[in-house]
Amino acid sequence: MKLFEDNIYGRTPVAAEQAPMRVESVEGRTPALDGLAYREQVDLIFGPTPKPGSHAAWRIRVLLYLPARANGPVPVVFGLNGGGNQSIVDDPGIAPTNIWVTEDDQAPHPETPGADTRGSQSAQWQVKSVLSRGYGLATAYYQDLEPDAKDQRANSVRALFDTPGTAPAANEWGAIAAWAWGYRKAVSYLRTNPGVEATHVAVTGHSRLGKAADWAAATTPEISALLSTESGKGGQSVQRRELGETVKHLAQQFPHWMCPAYATWVGRDQQIPADGNLLLSLVAPRPLYAASAQDDRWADPKGEFLSLRSAASVYALLGTSALAPDTPMSAVDQPIGVDTNTAYHIRSGKHDVTAYDWQHYLDFLDTRWGVPAKR
Ligand code: GCU
Repeated sequence: MKLFEDNIYGRTPVAAEQAPMRVESVEGRTPALDGLAYREQVDLIFGPTPKPGSHAAWRIRVLLYLPARANGPVPVVFGLNGGGNQSIVDDPGIAPTNIWVTEDDQAPHPETPGADTRGSQSAQWQVKSVLSRGYGLATAYYQDLEPDAKDQRANSVRALFDTPGTAPAANEWGAIAAWAWGYRKAVSYLRTNPGVEATHVAVTGHSRLGKAADWAAATTPEISALLSTESGKGGQSVQRRELGETVKHLAQQFPHWMCPAYATWVGRDQQIPADGNLLLSLVAPRPLYAASAQDDRWADPKGEFLSLRSAASVYALLGTSALAPDTPMSAVDQPIGVDTNTAYHIRSGKHDVTAYDWQHYLDFLDTRWGVPAKR
């Protein structure tokens, strides 16, 4: 954990971990999605009350869907989204909130999302199938925590916890740690919601948000399971293999993602002191599903598999079921380990989240926790 804090993601300030959180209801339990669900929306607020009309980085808007037919609390999957809450499903009831827009010719700025963005990422979220299977689904927009661009630290929730007059430390937290903090805070809120089964809150994330979900699960014991999609280098893949994305690319293209000390590993990928296998090990013994895509060479799918398999030895050490250490890389579209706490698949196709990924994630949670409708 300390190796990751000092070299990769940085250390989340104690003030951020202990920050009081106010929960403000935006919308109480409301029937949605043609009777399939109830929708709730809340703001999680940190620091001073935001000025009316401002896009406040310290206001995280959480959208929660619960299956309408549930008789009691249900297991829930939470993930940060990349397009705004309105993008995950076409539902006019999702309250419009500003999203940060980055265009080449101007600085990132907040804008009201266009109507065409409603449901624009519904294929990646599969909201209706998740609900039909008896699970709840919750999300928040990642740039509510920090706009995803260089030099946006002042608009990040990180700025709220700065100690004035102190220079940034080499292990100062970066944007991925800030997003992971958002995961942690959203999960801590969800666990208090009476519709949510507090001991069964899984997190998911794709790619850069997979990195954030991985770090969140590693650092948050209350997160009950991790469904990590193609989080690649700087996430679940093995950097030391030197295949796909390098430390140099990550450090130079996304200097805001990691802590300042990360840059000292540029050109030394083989020496990186904390790699994807250790990251996934920190999730043990909780259920963990790592997923790759065949054409996602940038993330190095085999590196993702090897991390999972290596982490499985820590699961075994802790006495939970796990993939055997000599398990070969699985064939395309054939999930493995789903009857253990360490599951993996490599799906055909490109870097994305698809119905296939969700189907196998939920099959896995069904085997780990029981089918929600039958419990
Ligand atoms: C870039 C980046 C990856 C990241 C990806 C994404 O490709 O190099 O590290 O995972 O964006 O977030 O889609």
